[in-house]
Amino acid sequence: MSQTAEDRYADFYARQLSSPTLARIYRDVYGDDHPEELRPFGFVTRTDLARFAALLELRPGMSFVDLGCGRGGPGIALARAAGARLLGLDPLAVAVEGARELSVSLGLPGARFAVGGFTATGLEPESRDAVLSVDALWMVWNKRAAFAEVARVLRPGGRFVFSTWEPSYLDHGGLLAAAGFTVTAKEEAERWLERQLRVYELVRAQAAALEAELGPGASVLLEEARDTPATLPSSPRVIMAATKAG
Ligand SMILES: C[S@@+](CC[C@H](N)C(=O)[O-])C[C@H]1O[C@@H](n2cnc3c(N)ncnc32)[C@H](O)[C@@H]1O
Repeated sequence: MSQTAEDRYADFYARQLSSPTLARIYRDVYGDDHPEELRPFGFVTRTDLARFAALLELRPGMSFVDLGCGRGGPGIALARAAGARLLGLDPLAVAVEGARELSVSLGLPGARFAVGGFTATGLEPESRDAVLSVDALWMVWNKRAAFAEVARVLRPGGRFVFSTWEPSYLDHGGLLAAAGFTVTAKEEAERWLERQLRVYELVRAQAAALEAELGPGASVLLEEARDTPATLPSSPRVIMAATKAG
């Protein structure tokens, strides 16, 4: 029976932490820039996290949402550093459960996590000060609807900061403007291409070990490692910041 993309990501999350090979690949490629303790699923670095913090300008008590939070690490780190209140949303229940556990082990038990997504936040209008999203927007088919939802839940003047990949046919800036945002920053993530390509190379080279350790969850990685490199140079990994009109 064929699996949906969601099933495959759920399988991955269920076994991610039991793969020493995957952990070693990220350590080898990123060295100290890999925030291993945050258990990310994607390509976020400590350098990216510092950039997100500078662009979000979170302050104590501010309320922010991490959309596509996965296991929650990046949002937890930023909330903890700033004393901000975090809600993480992800469509996958297994990821949300992992995020709850991680927030406790990283000393942020007040963080909240729930099943949800870019176009289904379930939040009150203008109820949040900021929105973060790390390496998740590329998975959202209807970006216009996603940006409209982010604009709806942000208070006027609220910040939206995200990382994603931008193929040449996609104009995130134009879509953000149409949703009522002013773009304040757009930059390529530091050294993203060489590192992402190297991760894929090592994943392909160690496919057998990854399959043994991750079980069915390996397929999502192996397919990405096989199919993505050709398109990557024309799809830069960008970090963007935008402000909702005040
Ligand atoms: C590459 S992972 C990044 C997870 C996390 N932000 C991190 O950096 O560790 C992408 C995440 O996007 C989530 N996702 C998929 N579709 C989504 C949607 N429509 N709205 C929000 N998140 C979504 C996936 O479940 C997955 O957890």
